[in-house]
Amino acid sequence: MNSSARSRFAGKTVLITGGASGIGAQTARDFAAEGAAVVLFDTQGDAVDRVADEIRGAGGKAVSYTVDVTSVAEIEANVDTAFAAVGEVDLLVQCAGILRDALLKDVTEAQWETVMGVNAKGILFTAQAVVRRWLAAAAAAPEPTAAAYPDRRIVTVSSLAADGQAGQTCYAASKAAIVAMTKSWAKELGRYNIRSHVVMPALIETPMVRELLEKDGAKWRKAFEELMPFGFGKPSYISDAIRFLCSDEFYFANGEVLRVNGGKLTSA
Ligand SMILES: NC(=O)c1ccc[n+]([C@@H]2O[C@H](COP(=O)([O-])OP(=O)(O)OC[C@H]3O[C@@H](n4cnc5c(N)ncnc54)[C@H](O)[C@@H]3O)[C@@H](O)[C@H]2O)c1
Repeated sequence: MNSSARSRFAGKTVLITGGASGIGAQTARDFAAEGAAVVLFDTQGDAVDRVADEIRGAGGKAVSYTVDVTSVAEIEANVDTAFAAVGEVDLLVQCAGILRDALLKDVTEAQWETVMGVNAKGILFTAQAVVRRWLAAAAAAPEPTAAAYPDRRIVTVSSLAADGQAGQTCYAASKAAIVAMTKSWAKELGRYNIRSHVVMPALIETPMVRELLEKDGAKWRKAFEELMPFGFGKPSYISDAIRFLCSDEFYFANGEVLRVNGGKLTSA
C-alpha cells in the first residue's frame, strides 16, 4: 500500500456490489487505499476475486463473494457469511447494474424484468439484508439519539438517465426507482444514524458502455463527445463522489442526490 495513502476510512468496512468491474472495482481499490476493509459482491466470480487479490497484494483488506443480486436467497446467505467473516459492515455501496437499451416500440417483457431485477430489486433486497442487521444491532443496544448510534451509510448508484433518456425506458425507470427508494430509506432510517445518498453519474467509460460507444463506426462516441463538456468520465470520478458521501466531510446530511454530470446540463 502506498505510504502516502490517506486513512479516512481506517477501521471501516464497506460492502460494494458490482465490485468486479468499472465503477465498483475502482471504488473498492480507492476505499482500500484509504484504509477500509472491503467486501465485494458480483456475479463475475473470477473477476471479483481478481479485484480482491489485487487489493490484498497492495496491502489492503478485501474479501470477495460470487453473488447474483437478483436472488434474495443468495443475497441473504452471502450477507450472513460476509458479516460473520468481517464482523461488521459500516458502509454499503451499490454499484451492481446492467444496461439494456431499446426504444419504447421494441421493449420486451424480458428486458423489463431483467433490468428491473438487477437495478431495482437487487438494490432493494441488498439494502434490506444489510439494514436488517444494522437494525437488529440498534434494537439490542438502543440509544437516546440518532447521533449516538454508529455512523452507517448507504450509497446507491443511479444515473442521469433517471431524468429520462431516449432508448432507455427500462434502464431510466430502474434508475429513477433507485432515487425514490434511496430517498425513502433516508426518511425511514435517519433516526438510527443510517444515512442514504444517491450518485447520478453522467457517461463513464467502463465495460458497460464501451460496446455502445464503438457501435456503428463509433457514431455514438462522437455524438456523446459533443454533449460532454469535460469529456468522458473515468470511474475514479464516481468513486471520489461515493467516498465523499461516506466520509466525515459529509456528515451533516441525509437523502442527498449528487449529480456527477461531467458538465452536461441538458437531458438530451
Ligand atoms: N458507465 C456509465 O456510463 C454509467 C453511467 C451512469 C450510471 N452507471 C451505473 O454505474 C454502476 C456501475 O456500472 P459500470 O459502468 O461500472 O458497469 P460495469 O458493467 O463495468 O460494472 C457493473 C458490475 O455489476 C455487476 N453485476 C451485473 N449484474 C449483477 C447481478 N445480478 N448481481 C451482482 N452483480 C452484478 C457486473 O458483473 C459488473 O461487474 C451501474 O449501476 C450503472 O448503471 C454507469
